[in-house]
Amino acid sequence: MLALEDDYTDIMRKAQRGTGKDAAALARETELEPALVLAVAGGREQPTEEQARRIARALSLDPGRFADAVFQRWYPATGLPSDVRHHINAPHPSNGYLLFLEQTRIAALVDPAGLPERLLRAVADGPFHLRYVLITHKHADHCDATADVARAFPDAQILIHRHDAFAIGALEHRAMKLQDDEHVPFGEAEIRVLHTPGHTDGSVCYLFRNLVFTGDTLFAGSVGAAAGDASTYDDILKSVRMRLFALDEQSVVLPGHGPPTTIAQERRHNPFFSGV
Ligand SMILES: [Fe+2]
Repeated sequence: MLALEDDYTDIMRKAQRGTGKDAAALARETELEPALVLAVAGGREQPTEEQARRIARALSLDPGRFADAVFQRWYPATGLPSDVRHHINAPHPSNGYLLFLEQTRIAALVDPAGLPERLLRAVADGPFHLRYVLITHKHADHCDATADVARAFPDAQILIHRHDAFAIGALEHRAMKLQDDEHVPFGEAEIRVLHTPGHTDGSVCYLFRNLVFTGDTLFAGSVGAAAGDASTYDDILKSVRMRLFALDEQSVVLPGHGPPTTIAQERRHNPFFSGV
């Protein structure tokens, strides 16, 4: 079982950066001792339920859900769908996935990163015909094996958002440089692109039927850090709320880090959102 990607200190740090509230501001608003706020943020002290709720309110997090993160009271009850295989992109800690069609053995590799031999073996093991290489965003732990995969499977179409495409170097010219809401055929259905800026300017999620590969936009119980050049913390929250939470509740979320979850569970448990 994969641990949740973010513990309460990660959540607190992302929300502090996002709202621009340092320990002093947080101490003032929560009427907690500055030393306590610093110790909580640093993971040296666990807040009480009441302290956790006060901190959450000051950071515009959901108080009950943030307290659940502090006391580790929630974990998603979701297994890996039967048409998806998962691997860790070692030596990176990120998730890689192979989405495949049982009948035709046609596959799409999501986030080609880490040791290429491992990825090539995952495709050969199917055996699968690799049709697409789907890149969720520009960070090395999600795309640094693109060249190796492209060399081994010259017919596979690479997809990456145009804002992040420079990350794959010369292969950019061979890739399909995406905008929002594009789609490509996959079996009888299609893979749809949702542009979800915030973690990076060119972050995208890939939707196939009721599966959504969310990269570092949405994790079980958290969101990615707002590390975009132009896009912001508000953008990542808006991307999740407007695009991902608009999907069918039963959609299975396959994140770039941490365990699988569903849209329904994130709407109820993710501390960055309230009452959605
Ligand atoms: Fe990332």
